[in-house]
Amino acid sequence: MRITCSGARSDWRAVDLTDPLFYAQGDPHAVWRAMRDEAPVHRHRLADGREYVSVTRYADVRTVVGDHQVFSSRRGNMLSVLGGHDPAADRMMVSSDPPIHTELRAPLMKHLSQQRMRELGPAIRAMARGLLAPLADGDTWDVAESVAMFPMMFTGLLMGLPERDWPELVRLTSTSVAPDDPAYGADGDSPLSAHHELFDYFVELAHTGDDDREDLVGAIRRMTPQGRRIRTDEVIYNCYNVLLGATVTAPHVIASTVLAFTEHPDVYARITPEADAVDLAVTEALRWSSPATHAMRYTNAATEIGGVPIGADEAVVAWLGSANRDRAVFDDPYRFDVTRRPNPHLAFGSGRHYCIGAPLARVALGEFFGEVVRIAEGFELAGEVRHLVSNFIAGFTSLPVRARLRPGAERELAAARAEGS
Ligand code: HEM
Repeated sequence: MRITCSGARSDWRAVDLTDPLFYAQGDPHAVWRAMRDEAPVHRHRLADGREYVSVTRYADVRTVVGDHQVFSSRRGNMLSVLGGHDPAADRMMVSSDPPIHTELRAPLMKHLSQQRMRELGPAIRAMARGLLAPLADGDTWDVAESVAMFPMMFTGLLMGLPERDWPELVRLTSTSVAPDDPAYGADGDSPLSAHHELFDYFVELAHTGDDDREDLVGAIRRMTPQGRRIRTDEVIYNCYNVLLGATVTAPHVIASTVLAFTEHPDVYARITPEADAVDLAVTEALRWSSPATHAMRYTNAATEIGGVPIGADEAVVAWLGSANRDRAVFDDPYRFDVTRRPNPHLAFGSGRHYCIGAPLARVALGEFFGEVVRIAEGFELAGEVRHLVSNFIAGFTSLPVRARLRPGAERELAAARAEGS
């Protein structure tokens, strides 16, 4: 999806925001900007009769994703399931409301805490270095392809998933969120078959080893929702939720940000390797890229948003990518500013469903960009950019760049490669 905004006035009424292809070829940021100005709460009717309400302003987006009393997650949080019933309702964290949601989430919180994730820093840094090692050759480096594996590496480690399974898991999770993209749907895989293959994988995992395994899968298997032993289907859904949450989002933050580095070398030059500077840059990278374009909810009862009446049981789509460019909250929102402060972006959502992997994602992105800044003086685009065909994930399938390395970096990268081989 285009991450910048062309600035052209957009005929937003002519656009179908459910169309995955629009995000690869069109300019959603221009559409969202026009909608924020002209129709911040807007009811869409699709040709097949289904309806949903779009909210595009920051304040409304935060209310919709954050107020679980009025806006329920039980019918799924993605536009792709609009009009259906989510079989994972009350069984998977992201598709449940409190109190069930709280019971599924609380036991995992301590396993994914800021403190625990910081301890993983050195291991994640080594992973980042391994992924950056090919830069030593001075050839074109496809950022999108190279970093697709990054979250799988650290989430695989946390979940205790064998390394031999990682490439297939990345392919399946990508297919299940972007089945229309030729890069993933090509093998005839539908999102349904990808879901089935992933579920079969987790069925096996739900029964492999014993319940006191020390990884995240063990923590899920030991949960006791409503005071009873967790069922296999609940183990599967929540393993799926954690894995998908990580693999389909984080790579696109890196790719979007490296693309911004190629477009704004002066901004890149402002990032120093100190932790605080990298941290601020990561926060802006998250706002800028907003990999999850939206979160959907269904109303529990009739309500109103910004004076627009909404009926009971209506689908409401909160556009996170739009909220993160709202000038009511962000000064000069289309400026990529690695020192932006304050930066209360909604890339991780808000409220009870606020991304449980946020501390992990922040540590991982911090380690990755820390390494990038240490080794590269700058980047330039070296080929055609391909955007992901998806209405849910803003990202890339190809981003070829060339890096100018800092003195001594080549030797370091070669050493990292030797270590990894
Ligand atoms: C940059 C990376 C990431 C982004 C942008 C992101 C984005 C989001 C967003 C927007 C939500 C809220 C969905 C909603 O309100 O319906 C969410 C929830 C979630 N994310 Fe992430 N995520 C990222 C990384 C991760 C990682 C690394 C993990 C794995 C540990 C993860 C696992 C989850 C899970 C399990 C939920 C559901 C939480 C709940 O319902 O309480 N995410 N994520």
